[in-house]
This record gives sequence, structure tokens and C-alpha cells, in this order.
Amino acid sequence: MLTDYHCHILPQIDDGAQNADTSLKMAAMMKEQGVERIIATPHFYAHREKSVADFLKKRESAYAKIKKSLAIKDIRLGAEVSIEHGISELPDIEKLAIWGTRIILLELPYRAYAKWMSEEIYNISAEYNLKVMLAHVHRYLPYYSKDEIETILSTDAILQINNEAFVNWKEKKISKRVINEYDTFAFGSDSHDSTSRKPNWDLLKKKVKPDIISVSNGIFDKYKK
Ligand SMILES: [Fe+2]
Repeated sequence: MLTDYHCHILPQIDDGAQNADTSLKMAAMMKEQGVERIIATPHFYAHREKSVADFLKKRESAYAKIKKSLAIKDIRLGAEVSIEHGISELPDIEKLAIWGTRIILLELPYRAYAKWMSEEIYNISAEYNLKVMLAHVHRYLPYYSKDEIETILSTDAILQINNEAFVNWKEKKISKRVINEYDTFAFGSDSHDSTSRKPNWDLLKKKVKPDIISVSNGIFDKYKK
């Protein structure tokens, strides 16, 4: 089942879809490109939110606006949780895991790598028995040294790759390495709209063989609750 593990399709909750119409357009594009299951992952920044409970309420009402009209019916809610200092101690953090799974999507900060980031990742997974999925591992290349990238890749996490990584040679290089050396990787569109940051599943299908995409699709069942 072709699964998009990372996208900002919920309307008016983050910098993704700015209205319900855009959400519907995104889902229609995805359907045309063969997507069968969407994991909606709006940004979660602990320092901007009142609480996890408050965020979940906002997420629910964003979903309610489009639920009945989406071209794809299999929608699971999650979040793209930004790793901040102390995030592993935030009450209810485990409730941000993807519905029906033990997977939680985490995004690293876009600045020099620091050891506390790995500690937060470890603490979240150990404390709540969650499987961490690291968002778009290829996007940290400009910020981290070679060694730091190795540290990230060696974390016991699912490594998420954006579809558009395959059009940039540097990002493609690391993405291909992940595909060749790991069996825990997952593709996501990280789409925010239907124009400049569109889903791009047609692009991924041109660049990556079906059996590789199947590995990604299987991750959902592998970490089902
Ligand atoms: Fe994202």
C-alpha cells in the first residue's frame, strides 16, 4: 500500500495547506500518483504550543474540515515533532506517535549538531517504547559534518527520505546510500501545497524501483501497535 509517511496536508494548522481546497487538491494529486495511505504530520514545536492536548485538539478540527471530502480515505494522523532541549520530558509526547503505530516522526534542528539531540531521540524511544522516524535525513547535509551525519545515520531510527531528494545530486547520494545499506527507510512527500511543494510521487516512481518502494510501504505494518 503506497504510503506517504510525511506531509502537511491538514489545513490551517502549520505552514502546509493554507485552506481546505488545497488539502483536497493535494489528496487528488496523490491519488492520481498511486498513493493509498496518507500520514498527516503537521509541525509540532513544543515552545509554540500550550500543550500536546491543545495541539491534538487543533489537529482534530483541521482534519474534520476535510475528512469527508478527501480523495484518499486511509488517513492516519501524526506530527513532525521538532527536537528541542527537554522534549523527551514533555507530558504526553507519546501521543504524537502515528495513529495505530509505535512510530514518532522527529525533525532535527537546522543548526550544528549537538549531543543532546541524540540523547533526546534515545530518551523518547526508550521511555515510551516508540520507534523514531527521522524526517528527511538528507536535509541536514549543509549543517552537519561528515562525522555528525554518520552519527545520525547510525541512530536506531527509521530514516525518512523526501521524494524530491532524488533531484539534487548531494541529497540523492545520501538517499541512495540509505536505501542500499539500511532496511528501515521510509519515503514521504513532505508536501505543503499543490504547486511549489507538491507531492512528487510520480518523480519518486521514476527514480526508485518498485521493490524499494515496497520496503518503505512495509514499515507501517512492521511497527503497528
Ligand atoms: Fe515536514
